[in-house]
Amino acid sequence: MSNDAKDTNASSSAQPASCKLDAGPHPASAGPVGKQPAPPCMLVIFGAGGDLTKRLLTPSLYNLSVDGLLDDGMRIIGVNHGERETKAWLDDLGQSLQQFAADKAGEFHTGKIDDNAWHWLSSRMEYLAGEFETDDVFETLKQRIDKTPHGNAIFYLAVGARFFKPIVERLGKHGLLKEDEKDGTGKGGFRRLVIEKPFGTDLASARDLNAHILRHASESQVYRIDHFLGKDTVQSILAVRFANAMFEPVWRREYIDSVQITAGETLGVERRGKFYELTGAFRDMVPNHLFQLLAMVALEPPNSFDAEAVRDRKAELFDAIQPLTPNDVVFGQYEKGDAGVAYREEPDVARDSATETYAAARVFIDNWRWAGVPFYLRTGKRMTARRTEIAVQLKRVPFLMFRDTPVDTLTPNVFTLSIDPAHGTRFDFNVKVPGPTMQIGAARSAFNYDDFFAERANVGYETLLYDCMLGDATLFQRADSIESSWCIVDRVLHPEGGALPVHGYAAGSCGPAQADELLARDGRAWRPLHDATR
Ligand code: BG6
Repeated sequence: MSNDAKDTNASSSAQPASCKLDAGPHPASAGPVGKQPAPPCMLVIFGAGGDLTKRLLTPSLYNLSVDGLLDDGMRIIGVNHGERETKAWLDDLGQSLQQFAADKAGEFHTGKIDDNAWHWLSSRMEYLAGEFETDDVFETLKQRIDKTPHGNAIFYLAVGARFFKPIVERLGKHGLLKEDEKDGTGKGGFRRLVIEKPFGTDLASARDLNAHILRHASESQVYRIDHFLGKDTVQSILAVRFANAMFEPVWRREYIDSVQITAGETLGVERRGKFYELTGAFRDMVPNHLFQLLAMVALEPPNSFDAEAVRDRKAELFDAIQPLTPNDVVFGQYEKGDAGVAYREEPDVARDSATETYAAARVFIDNWRWAGVPFYLRTGKRMTARRTEIAVQLKRVPFLMFRDTPVDTLTPNVFTLSIDPAHGTRFDFNVKVPGPTMQIGAARSAFNYDDFFAERANVGYETLLYDCMLGDATLFQRADSIESSWCIVDRVLHPEGGALPVHGYAAGSCGPAQADELLARDGRAWRPLHDATR
């Protein structure tokens, strides 16, 4: 989240957003006004033949090039095992881009690819065949990078987690992570390492991976990605909280009853059975994506948006979260239902699999602001609706002077930050129902990004890639926070009393009944996942 990025956001938000009821589409310019191209660099993508490169990295690089944010001196080398001509690789990527551009429901819906922009980008891309666990390819990379006038390189590990250590080891061994002091010739330059999740599978493995990486690079060179932080709607949580005076006074235990964080998906495990069997919904989503959302909602105001200021506040927050116990979580697995087959019938899944496809958790933060406020988290595959959102529920008013409406029948005030697929905010509140008597009725005010800002194709990696090129680590995970997150969930991952029960739920439903009980114990209920009015 560069300063330029912040300025851009500020300039586009100079128009006041208004409630859906009276706001028409606004011709606001959402272009990255005033942003500068990132410094030139060699971007090396390990895993050039994978889905991530095709679906997310290439479209993001294309969007950055359209916005003029890549330097002319930018070069991209895609490394993968398997001989292949650069042209064949680029043809494949180009065709996929066209398909994504034409997909009206996709995040990369631009209608049509700008041939000039794709030509500009693709003429800077090269395919390099090589095994990740042998030395040859690293020697070639070294020679290529040494020949650049700047010496800047980013190594992007878009590969399975089993390759993280071997690749980092060889990058270290071949001196590719060494940042030399700039000499008179301007050589030297930065060396950065981008690592995708899963970053470890528990506390011990995350510590081990961090230790391994930090033997070869310093913390300031490591950019651990959580793609949720690349979403505009997630970054906007900080803008909503800290650029508006109305939220901060009530954003605390005195006024907030509870917070619900939901990431529900309608998709099943699709073709990822092998990965998912070993991972499960909890590891896949909770200590990373959902904790990042939690941090955005709950962190204390940083002194600035500098990377370390924001990451220090996050680290403090994670330190304050009470470790979860098996009592605080519920696991589920989808069974045959309206929306499809059972998880156990999916390809590459054991017929007696005990892997959870749903997880719910109750989290408490032991600090002055949040003590006693439950944060309920849930995520699941094959649920009734796709919805990622954060709902902040305020406490009831203490007393009601309107005779015919008792306090406990009032709709609670709920402020909802919608992340996907809706992008915006909603506020549920109470008003007088029109008519001669004083009756109270529920109303809703909603802001949708698409009503107010010009639509922009954004697959979510643009900011992350651009920030990494600029050296801004605000949106990336520091080693300490990764380890604290795993530490919070460690007792759930390694329960003393044996594996946790996994309860069935019908594909296409809202999750297992036991998850409802988790909230019912506290006198609360999950917010409906399916609500036609949203
Ligand atoms: C990934 C998980 O990290 O996030 C997937 O591995 C999940 O299982 C995905 O589907 C959700 O991300 P998004 O951006 O589609 O909500």
